[in-house]
Amino acid sequence: MLADDAPKTSSGARDQLRGVSPEPGAPKPDPIVVADHVVRQFGGLTAVDVEHVEIQRGVITALIGPNGAGKTTFFNLLTGFDKPQSGEWSFNGRSLAGVPAYRVARLGMIRTFQLTKVLGKLTVLENMRLGATKQRGERFLGGLLGIWRAQEQEITEKADSLLERFLLIKKRTDLAGELSGGQRKLLEMARALMADPELVMLDEPMAGVNPALKQSLLGHVKSLRDEGRTVLFVEHDMDMVRDISDWVIVMAQGKVIAEGPPDSVMGDTRVIDAYLGSHHDQDLSEDLSDEIHSQATEEVEREERGTPETDGATR
Ligand SMILES: Nc1ncnc2c1ncn2[C@@H]1O[C@H](COP(=O)(O)OP(=O)(O)O)[C@@H](O)[C@H]1O
Ligand SMILES: [Mg+2]
Repeated sequence: MLADDAPKTSSGARDQLRGVSPEPGAPKPDPIVVADHVVRQFGGLTAVDVEHVEIQRGVITALIGPNGAGKTTFFNLLTGFDKPQSGEWSFNGRSLAGVPAYRVARLGMIRTFQLTKVLGKLTVLENMRLGATKQRGERFLGGLLGIWRAQEQEITEKADSLLERFLLIKKRTDLAGELSGGQRKLLEMARALMADPELVMLDEPMAGVNPALKQSLLGHVKSLRDEGRTVLFVEHDMDMVRDISDWVIVMAQGKVIAEGPPDSVMGDTRVIDAYLGSHHDQDLSEDLSDEIHSQATEEVEREERGTPETDGATR
């Protein structure tokens, strides 16, 4: 299911991208999201100032850019978790300005969230059940206790089948906070799928993940596309971007400054300048230092032995 040679139901959508001109704001043949003049300011700082952008349906689009470029803020705006000062945007042709986050989620546009401290105190299965937005609406944590029994059964079955797919089934009754970095990322992705989204938005799915688990996450992201979903993800890992994205959009200082197929975008001087002008030029480097390598190897070995990490964050 996750292999490279899986049947590509989305190849038509990718073929359509070939005719798209590699320019900021380029129109796409079948956009699932269209945004216009979206501006978000924090005090005197303009975090997002997107004039026009379209996200093609059925493909994997990477949103890249230096730290502070406005990528996460743009995600929050699109999904109703934050409000812009001005702007219009639509999902499947339906305007979303002013639509609250839980309704955006029900419409099929889901973003992943980092596992918070609170969610870490729930079990893996409980976290999955919280992802079933359609049934609960805005009654977030409270919904956990109040779900109807029939639905409860259905939700649990769905959660278990996703946990199988994401290789977390053995962890189902463990506290989410005890998972390794990579397993958290798998849980975040699996939880997003509980709502059966049409568009999956992943904010840095590879952050803190060791190289071995990276390959498995890459496979999972591709499988989302190959089962017909649209994927939009923010990522600093340029190898991953090059490896799996069909299209790349580059933000810097709130604006879309470049877009196109991965190879041409990453060679674009505007893009290189944007990175070099920031403190994150090392993000374009493909080398891992020896120290990181040996730490990562240790982590993999620990995971293979099934020994839980002490506390991942500072390692
Ligand atoms: N809630 C907030 N209050 C004030 N400034 C914010 C807030 N959220 C983001 N910013 C600022 O907006 C800019 C864009 O941030 P962000 O969207 O997190 O960038 P990215 O995800 O590309 O790294 C940054 O300068 C950041 O400090
Ligand atoms: Mg961010």
